[in-house]
Amino acid sequence: MNLTKSNRGSLYVSKLFGSIATRYDLLNNLMSFGQHRAWRRKSVDMVNKDIGVRGPILDVATGTCDFAIDVEKVNSQTTIIGIDFSLAMLKVGIAKVKKKKLNQKIHLMMADGHQLPFDNNTFAIVTMGFGIRNFDNPKAALNEINRVLKPGGRLAILEIFPIQNRKFTSKLFKVGFKFVAPLLGYIFSNNSEAYEYLPASAESFMSSMQLLELTSESGLFHVSNKELAFGSVSILISQKGN
Ligand SMILES: C[S@@+](CC[C@H](N)C(=O)[O-])C[C@H]1O[C@@H](n2cnc3c(N)ncnc32)[C@H](O)[C@@H]1O
Repeated sequence: MNLTKSNRGSLYVSKLFGSIATRYDLLNNLMSFGQHRAWRRKSVDMVNKDIGVRGPILDVATGTCDFAIDVEKVNSQTTIIGIDFSLAMLKVGIAKVKKKKLNQKIHLMMADGHQLPFDNNTFAIVTMGFGIRNFDNPKAALNEINRVLKPGGRLAILEIFPIQNRKFTSKLFKVGFKFVAPLLGYIFSNNSEAYEYLPASAESFMSSMQLLELTSESGLFHVSNKELAFGSVSILISQKGN
């Protein structure tokens, strides 16, 4: 099966994450050599830096809730809501949040990021880790995020992007991701298809600069960005005007 943008859809993506939910954290650790934790922490630092508004925080495509939990460490005074359309992923997150005794602070709900069930101008920060490239319509998701952000509120996107430069290390990383991910997926979750989808979805996704353009078309302006892992991962921080 050719797992590119053209033949995936929300139902496919939701089922796919449902099928790997209980192994997702383990495979994330293995495939990023544990780096995904540092990347989320860096995103939280960047989005909070010199922010001018306070208020609730939304984690879109929260999955197993790692981003929401990292956000809570720095923003412990505020309510955090995580949404995802995969119940299986959320169930892993619910157990994790409960174990960390954070269930009074982090609230999880099933929802589609294309249609956020929140009022306009609600959140001071929206985060989204490795989520946007799985969306059917990233522009619609960004419009929704702009709608629910307060004026002066910020969006942090952490995502895997196609590698742009031709350096040997970048190429090596790309080849490794393409072949190692399905192998690890097969060994640890008995699901190589899901882990063929993950690199394929990154390779067929737009560049970080194109996503920044789309973000600005949605009404958010660029604050800062950072490339990680030989340019295969980026953090993009944007802000809603006042
Ligand atoms: C790669 S996981 C990322 C999970 C988590 N944010 C993290 O940092 O590890 C992608 C998540 O996006 C969710 N997702 C994809 N499309 C979505 C949509 N349209 N609405 C809500 N969740 C979505 C999937 O169900 C999955 O849990």
